[in-house]
Amino acid sequence: MLTAWRDEDVNDLFVLFSDPRVTRFYDIPTMQEPEQAARLLAGLQQRFSAGTGIRWAMRDRDTGEFMGSCGFNCWDTQSRTAVLGYDLMPEFWGQGYASEAVSRIVEFAFGGGLSCGPLMQIEAKTVRGNRASERLLERLNFRLFDDMATGAIEQPDLKHYRLLQPQRFGELVLN
Ligand SMILES: CC(C)(COP(=O)(O)OP(=O)(O)OC[C@H]1O[C@@H](n2cnc3c(N)ncnc32)[C@H](O)[C@@H]1OP(=O)(O)O)[C@@H](O)C(=O)NCCC(=O)NCCS
Repeated sequence: MLTAWRDEDVNDLFVLFSDPRVTRFYDIPTMQEPEQAARLLAGLQQRFSAGTGIRWAMRDRDTGEFMGSCGFNCWDTQSRTAVLGYDLMPEFWGQGYASEAVSRIVEFAFGGGLSCGPLMQIEAKTVRGNRASERLLERLNFRLFDDMATGAIEQPDLKHYRLLQPQRFGELVLN
C-alpha cells in the first residue's frame, strides 16, 4: 500500500539510502548519517504540502512494514508533465512490487488524482545500466525518448523515457 510519510519513517529511510545497492545508479551520495534521512523526510513532507510533487511510502499491506518509496518528484502544471521516481529495499526486489506500485500511481496520475490535474505525460530518467529500472519502465510501456534526434543530450549517461496519457497517445497515432 502507498501512504503518507510518518515521522518514524526516518530510520527506514536511512536504511534505504545508506545501502550502496540502492544508490548505485543515483547521482546522490550514499547516506552516511541519520541526519541526512531526517532532512530528506522533511523535504518529502514539505514537497507534499507545497503541492510541487508527491512521494508515497510503500508498505506491506498486511504488516505495514516499510518497503520503499515511489511518486512524482516534481511536475510542470503547464505541460502537465511529471517526473517519476521509485526505490525499494533490496529484500523486496525482483518480486514485481515496484511494477505494481508504479502502474497504480501512473493510472492515478493520468486519471486526475494529483493536485496538478490530469497528467498528459510522465517522464523518467534512469542511469544507463540500471536494467531493473529500464525493464520496469519498458514493461509499463514507457518509450525511450530520442535525445539524439532532439539534440537534448544534457546528460549522456542517462536514459530518458516517457509515457503519454493513453488518450493522447491514441490521438497522436491517429494523426
Ligand atoms: C528499480 C527497482 C525499484 C525495481 O524494483 P523491483 O520491485 O525489483 O522491480 P520488479 O520486480 O517490478 O521488476 C521490474 C522488471 O525488472 C526486472 N528486474 C528486476 N531486478 C533486475 C535486475 N537486478 N536485473 C535485471 N532485471 C531486473 C524484472 O525481471 C522485471 O522485468 P520483467 O517484467 O521483464 O520480468 C529496484 O531495483 C530498486 O529499488 N533499485 C534501486 C533504486 C533505483 O535504482 N531506482 C530507480 C531510479 S531511476
